[in-house]
Amino acid sequence: MKKIRIAPSILNADFAHLEKEIRRMENAGVDWIHLDIMDGHFVPNLTFGAPVVEKLRSITGLPFDAHLMIENPERYLKDFREAGVNWLTVHVEVGYHLHRTIDAIRKLGMHPGVAINPGTPAAWLDPLLPFVDLILVMTVNPGFGGQKFIPEMLDKIRDVAGKIRDSGREILLEVDGGLDQHTVPAVLESGADVLVIGSAIFEQPDPEQAAAGFVELVSSR
Ligand code: DX5
Ligand code: ZN
Repeated sequence: MKKIRIAPSILNADFAHLEKEIRRMENAGVDWIHLDIMDGHFVPNLTFGAPVVEKLRSITGLPFDAHLMIENPERYLKDFREAGVNWLTVHVEVGYHLHRTIDAIRKLGMHPGVAINPGTPAAWLDPLLPFVDLILVMTVNPGFGGQKFIPEMLDKIRDVAGKIRDSGREILLEVDGGLDQHTVPAVLESGADVLVIGSAIFEQPDPEQAAAGFVELVSSR
C-alpha cells in the first residue's frame, strides 16, 4: 500500500499566530507544510517570500513543500534553499528554460517539482518526466484558497498517474485546490500521493481536529 501524504497549505491560516497553527499541524500528524508563494503577476495575489519561510524553519522540522506561483522563479531558488525548503515546485507555464531551472533546484539539494494549471494540457509534462521528483496538478486556478474543485481535473490526475507509471520513475503526484472530505476520495481513487488542503483545515473551527481527520482518512484506506 502506498503512503499518502497530507500537506496543509498555510495560505488560509491565522498569520498572526503561525507558530501556533504549525504546532497544531504537528500534533495532528501531518506529513508536510505546503507554502504558497505568489507574486501578483503569475497569479492575482501576493503572499510571502523566503524571509518568512526562514522564520518558520526555525520552529518546525516538518518538510517544507514550496509552491512557487511566480514569474522568473529561477531568481529565487537559492533563497528558498537557504530558507530551508525541501521540495520546490515551479509552474510549467512560466518557464522558458524549465530543464535549467529543474536542474538548478536539484543541484541546490532540493527535490524539483513542476505544477500545471487546470487549463494547461497534461502533455506539457512529457518532456519533464525524466527530471522531476513531483508533479502538482492544480484542481483550481491558482491564486486563492477556498475555491471550488474542478471535477473535470479527475481525468487529468488519472492521465498524469499513468504517465508517472509509464516513466518507471519515483515521482509523487500532488493535487492542490478545493480538497475536502467530499472531493478527497475521488482524488485518491484517481492516483494522488500528496493532498494539499487549505481551507478545509484552516477555515474550520478546530484546524487541528480537521487535519487529524484527513490524516486518519488516508491512513485507514
Ligand atoms: C491555490 C493554492 C492552494 C490553496 C489550497 O492557489 O495553490 O495551495 O491555497 O487551498 P484550498 O484547499 O482552500 O483550495
Ligand atoms: Zn499550492
